[in-house]
Parts: sequence; structure tokens; C-alpha cells
Amino acid sequence: MCAARQTRETRRDMGHIRRAVFPAAGWGTRFLPATKAQPKEMLPLVDKPIIQYAVEEAVDSGIENLVIVTGRGKSSIEDHFDIAFELEAALEARGKPHLRDLVRSVAEAASISYVRQKEALGLGHAVLTARGPVGNEPFAVLLSDDVLVARPPCIRQMMDIFDAYQSSVVAIMEVPMRETDRYGIIRGTPLPGSDRLYEVRGMVEKPAAGDAPSNLAIIGRYILTPSIFEALEATGEGSGGEIQLTDALRRLTATERVLAYKFDGRRYDAGEKLGFLKATVEFALRDQELGPAFRSYLKSLDIDGC
Ligand code: G1P
Repeated sequence: MCAARQTRETRRDMGHIRRAVFPAAGWGTRFLPATKAQPKEMLPLVDKPIIQYAVEEAVDSGIENLVIVTGRGKSSIEDHFDIAFELEAALEARGKPHLRDLVRSVAEAASISYVRQKEALGLGHAVLTARGPVGNEPFAVLLSDDVLVARPPCIRQMMDIFDAYQSSVVAIMEVPMRETDRYGIIRGTPLPGSDRLYEVRGMVEKPAAGDAPSNLAIIGRYILTPSIFEALEATGEGSGGEIQLTDALRRLTATERVLAYKFDGRRYDAGEKLGFLKATVEFALRDQELGPAFRSYLKSLDIDGC
């Protein structure tokens, strides 16, 4: 068989990315007490819960089947993406068809299934929980804490890399050296001919600044080949006593190529208060309806007097 044909057939074997997993079973401790009785994924950024931004990113990227990994106290996520007949009828009766259409569009945007992570044993364990619905296919993982603004969407950029290289891809960005203990950090070598791609040689979860192999931090977007599931099964507790996706990916690099992609766009860490506030302010400023009034309000503020 000629090499070109072999490549084509390998490519067909791997297939395209059709499924995306959204881990959403964590405690959200950084936002307590706001997250005592509601999931952090449902905290609103202007007028949409943060998980909806990640869902829209996947849908806009052409992914059809979404799997949300939930846990105790997360049922409002399922309600949010479900049809709300009573609400729709009330909006209709009150002459607000545009709002009825808006709430219906959230339910119709994607086909979503749910799996339950019964114990919060870490991100790696959450991804392993989605093994059944994902099956033996490459898939995407989106962490909704990371709200990304990019055109095309970050996960679409990564799907294009997967199509070209047929290997797992993690999104990365440069962070200050003092912040490496908040991220998975990669050790990589630049891929010849590309200024954004690295071949991953190693990675470590939340290393102290002095121990970090670089300042290239993993952000919450991944394209994974199904071999990650065996790697996860073989991975024990890591940083924070949890099963870490970073550790399983490092294991995967022994048998498969893993690429890191410095994505083109802007990232907000909506998983912590300051990042959440920055995202709120910037999204509100960019909002068509709200933006002008919000901008003049901010300008009128005596910030030092507040
Ligand atoms: C997770 C990952 C970490 C990654 C980060 C990006 O950590 O484990 O490797 O850098 O997301 O947001 P978490 O923020 O859930 O502790």
C-alpha cells in the first residue's frame, strides 16, 4: 500500500471529532458561599451561565454530541439545557415571543447526554467517567472555567490540528513563572515549521515555580485519542490527591505523539473571582445592548473613592 493511501486510511480509522466532554462535577470551592447550593458552572457571565459559553464553542465548532459529567447538586445544569414548557407558555402568554425563542434555542442547540461522577476524584476521573458515551473515538474536552474568545473557536482550531496530525492536542498559553502552581505545565520542543505547535516531551500538574519545566500552561481545551482511557485507568492519585488528566497525558506520550497548541485568542479564568470579574466587565462592555451604558457608568466611577 502506498504511503499516501496508508495515511488516508489511518485518518479514516481515527475519524473526526464528533463528541465533546464537559467535566462539571467539581465543588466550586473558590466561589463559596455562592456555590453552596448551585453549581459554579451556572454562575452567569452577563446573561449566560459559564457552561453555556463552552457548549456554544463546541457547537459552533461543529461538534454534535455533548456529554456533561455531573455530580450531586448539579441538576440545574440539566434543567438549563432542557425544554421549559411552563416558562415558554408564560412568556408566550405575556407577549414575549423573542424571550420564548431564546430559552427554546438553548435547549435545541445540541444533543446533550449526562453521566454522573459519583465521587469528585479529579479531572482525570471525570474524563474516565465519560468513557461509555464517548466510545472508541477521538473526542474533545472543554473545561467551562476557561472562557475563551477566539475566531475560529479554540476547539475548532484544535480540531483542524487533529485533522492534520491525528494525535492528541492540548491548548497552552504562556503564564508568569510565579503562577505555574495553578496549571498543568508542559515540557515541549517546537515543531519545525510552526510557531504555535510543540511536541510534548513531558508535563506536570501544578509544579511550584522553581520546579516548572517551562511557563507553557495547559488551559482547559483538549483533543484526546481514545487511548487516554487506558492511560487514565493506569493513573493513580496525583497532585491534590486527585486523578489528574495531566498525569495520564504524560503517560500517553510514551506511546503516542501529544501536541501542544498555543491557541490564538483570549482566555478568562472564570474559575476564580478576579478572572470572573474581568470576564464580566469585558463581556458587558462588548454587549450590544448593555455596552454603551455600562461604559459610561464605569467612566463615571470615582474608582479610588469606592
Ligand atoms: C485543570 C487542569 C490543569 C489546567 C487547568 C486549566 O486544573 O488540571 O492542568 O492547567 O485546569 O484551567 P484546575 O483549574 O481544574 O485545578
